[in-house]
Amino acid sequence: MVLTAEEFSLFRNLIYEEAGICLKDTRKDFLENRVFRRMGATGLRSPYQYYRFITNGGRAEFMNLLDILTVNETSFFRNRPQLELFRTVILNDVIRRKGKDFQKKIRIWSAGCSTGEEPYTVSIILRESIRDGSNWDIKIHASDLSLSALQTANRAEYDADKILATVDDSYIARYFVKVPAVSAGVTGAVTPSGGTDQKEQYKLKITDTVKKPVVFDFHNLKNASEYVNLDVIFCRNVMIYFDEEEQKKLIRKFYAGLNPGGYLLLGHSESLQGWKTRFEFVYRNKGAAYRKPEEEEE
Ligand SMILES: C[S@@+](CC[C@H](N)C(=O)[O-])C[C@H]1O[C@@H](n2cnc3c(N)ncnc32)[C@H](O)[C@@H]1O
Repeated sequence: MVLTAEEFSLFRNLIYEEAGICLKDTRKDFLENRVFRRMGATGLRSPYQYYRFITNGGRAEFMNLLDILTVNETSFFRNRPQLELFRTVILNDVIRRKGKDFQKKIRIWSAGCSTGEEPYTVSIILRESIRDGSNWDIKIHASDLSLSALQTANRAEYDADKILATVDDSYIARYFVKVPAVSAGVTGAVTPSGGTDQKEQYKLKITDTVKKPVVFDFHNLKNASEYVNLDVIFCRNVMIYFDEEEQKKLIRKFYAGLNPGGYLLLGHSESLQGWKTRFEFVYRNKGAAYRKPEEEEE
């Protein structure tokens, strides 16, 4: 059984309408594979039956389909030049302005946070940069469309080898604790020499101090945003899955959600170049961001 051209069109339009994700013709095999996988799990016999099911009340199942269509690739300290810009320029600017307020409030949003590495990286940088943290009211909202990614993010346990490859030793010592790996990563298999395979027997879990300011939430970026009064928005490597129209709508929502003087950080291959926006471009040592002007034009 294959997905016919008509069925491909039906699913593609639905996914675009609901999640903004744009699947090109070349992604037909990918979509077919995912639809058949979910058909198998639900016991439905044809793609059209499955389509009718998810469009007639089978909302939870549609979420399951979206879950396996999203690309959740991410890592701690991804795009270091941009994070350096965040640490040295953006955060200093935000701290300088917000430090004058009685409340000393900082609000950050990681939009499309995947499995949590991005918001936890931001939380680590904040802890390192703000020494008198207890005087500040800091919240990092972290949202995604993928429920399984959010579950992983909330668990906050990561494969040790991935952490060791991307996070500085001093941060690992301060912000991670070893926890036993329940299943993944533990083989315990007997090797040809008769010993046991000593592959990582543990995972690394984020400490409570780093986890505490991060609040995870399901949010579809296609929908109206409830995130407002933000100082910084990270939306990295998410817009690449949207077409230009959806990207522009999203940028307008981000602009509206930012405080005057707030910053937007996009992914390495994403930019606002050539678009008419009021954002100012900020660039230093290969790190890029966009800043909403402090003074709004009349
Ligand atoms: C490649 S990951 C990027 C993760 C992280 N921002 C980074 O740069 O490492 C893209 C994430 O965007 C999420 N995503 C895609 N479409 C979305 C939508 N319409 N609403 C919310 N999240 C979405 C996916 O579920 C995925 O976790």
